[in-house]
Amino acid sequence: MNMSSGDDTSRGMRKGLTSYGDARFSLFLRKAFIKGMGYSDDALDRPIIGIANTASGYNACHANVPDLVEAVKRGIMLSGALPIDFPTISIHESFAHPTSMFLRNLMAMDTEELVRAQPMDAVVLIGGCDKTVPAQLMGAASANVPAIQLVTGPMLTGSHRGERVGACTDCRRFWARYRAGEIDDAEISEVNDQLVPGAGTCGVMGTASTMAMVVEALGMMLPGGAAAPAVSADRRRIAEATGACAVRLAAEKLTPDRIMTAKAFENALTVLLAIGGSTNGIVHLTAMAGRLGLELDLDGFDRIGRQVPVLVDLKPSGQHYMEDLHDAGGLPTVLRELRDCLHLDCLTVTGRALGEEIEAAPKPWKQEIVAPLSKPVYPTGGMAVLRGNLAPRGAIIKQSAASESLLAHKGRAIVFSSIEDLTARIDDPDLDVRPDDILVLQNAGPKGAPGMPEAGYMPIPRKLAAQGVKDMVRISDARMSGTASGTIVLHITPESAEGGPLALVRTGDIIELDVPNRRIELLVEGAVLAKRRSEFTPPSHTGSDRGYKKLFLDTVLQADRGCDFDFLVPESVGVTPDRS
Ligand code: FES
Repeated sequence: MNMSSGDDTSRGMRKGLTSYGDARFSLFLRKAFIKGMGYSDDALDRPIIGIANTASGYNACHANVPDLVEAVKRGIMLSGALPIDFPTISIHESFAHPTSMFLRNLMAMDTEELVRAQPMDAVVLIGGCDKTVPAQLMGAASANVPAIQLVTGPMLTGSHRGERVGACTDCRRFWARYRAGEIDDAEISEVNDQLVPGAGTCGVMGTASTMAMVVEALGMMLPGGAAAPAVSADRRRIAEATGACAVRLAAEKLTPDRIMTAKAFENALTVLLAIGGSTNGIVHLTAMAGRLGLELDLDGFDRIGRQVPVLVDLKPSGQHYMEDLHDAGGLPTVLRELRDCLHLDCLTVTGRALGEEIEAAPKPWKQEIVAPLSKPVYPTGGMAVLRGNLAPRGAIIKQSAASESLLAHKGRAIVFSSIEDLTARIDDPDLDVRPDDILVLQNAGPKGAPGMPEAGYMPIPRKLAAQGVKDMVRISDARMSGTASGTIVLHITPESAEGGPLALVRTGDIIELDVPNRRIELLVEGAVLAKRRSEFTPPSHTGSDRGYKKLFLDTVLQADRGCDFDFLVPESVGVTPDRS
């Protein structure tokens, strides 16, 4: 390698030199160290493709990452570039306290800074578990280095006594049966062995699958890249092709801001609705768009939902699993049906437009997983946006996974002031609760919990579950796992810890939910609410005076702004800090 200071410092090993006051010395030193790993000058003169490696002993959803890194490297080297993988934070849903969402922005910052700080002409982001994909794309969008997403892919299904099972809709279903006394300790232990039969992300249309699908629709992933199972040969071939594509992205300097446009986000929202995707998808897409100075319009999202029905018959809204969707052709099968609802001119990582990729996809075959637009699985989009005096800045309900009979419902509020209060009292035999009551959870939002955990799926009180009650209206400022179902209103904004109207609800108040008319109202007189507001005190959190928790509580935005940190969003978005 020539170490002349006149060489192109915008590419390869010369990019972003460490500052020693002498650029040629910086390059000399960098080369000396990397040669310690056995690289030749020929290798070091190539374009460099970084690979964000999120393998972790705590993350079963990423257990195949080492294999994928190898396949990506093969694709990169076959295309004449040099792959270098590097570790970043890895977050698994069940191994992040208090909740994975608390760490999403930290992972986004980690990814952004490492992509920016280290020399790479493009980056392959290997993610999968729920928060990892949005975190990586938030970071990549801010770094604005050519980037392509590769997901680990869904796990295969397991089998319990001949019944097909998969994480984690069936986790919740079996746990609800256990709580109701329908199955015993021995059987729930057997189920526990079968729900996650191997590597990969949850095999239903949970948040991980949702994010994979919408990111493919957004154009940041190879066509067909979302649904191939984690352990399949297809997944490795996709990884190899992703590596090759990254080399082309580097050559063309195709940056995320040219792909993740306002129209591309509309495509992603359309797909989110058509797949019956996770409610978390709207929060993450809002955060990703925000990094590029784009604001997603919740009411516009709801309008799309009135026109775009659910086409994909996957749990929790439907019956099947991600491996079935892959066998049915994956997202391209969905996109073909949605053709007339999409912006077909949006650029993708392949350098071609979305419409060209739909044309190039394999011809359709007979399958029962993706319904035709003329005969959908659910007549409208999977989600609806609610407003009213209880949610002035909006709330979300996954109507496709709710009980039809509860979508228009008036009932008495049973209020839990925190997740701890819920845990302590929900199964109390003396709890005064009836099947037509509405369970209300306060202080479970971005600042209240903190981290907006997936606590919105409140359990049915044990004494009602034992009577056979399967669903009740539940309302909170929390999120819900994409694998869960029920008549559950989420993301109430502003949250109760910010003094939102949810904080003013008391047990015995009447709440009216009217999903067809997109309303949620607290039927309490204004004077009473004003008095309660004057008595409001926000929750305090121990350990919030230092470190990341302080940063989080000081700067996290509300759900309608994607729960990003206010200082990470470009000023052009015009975000007013939610700091209190
Ligand atoms: Fe990782 Fe479900 S826990 S995708």
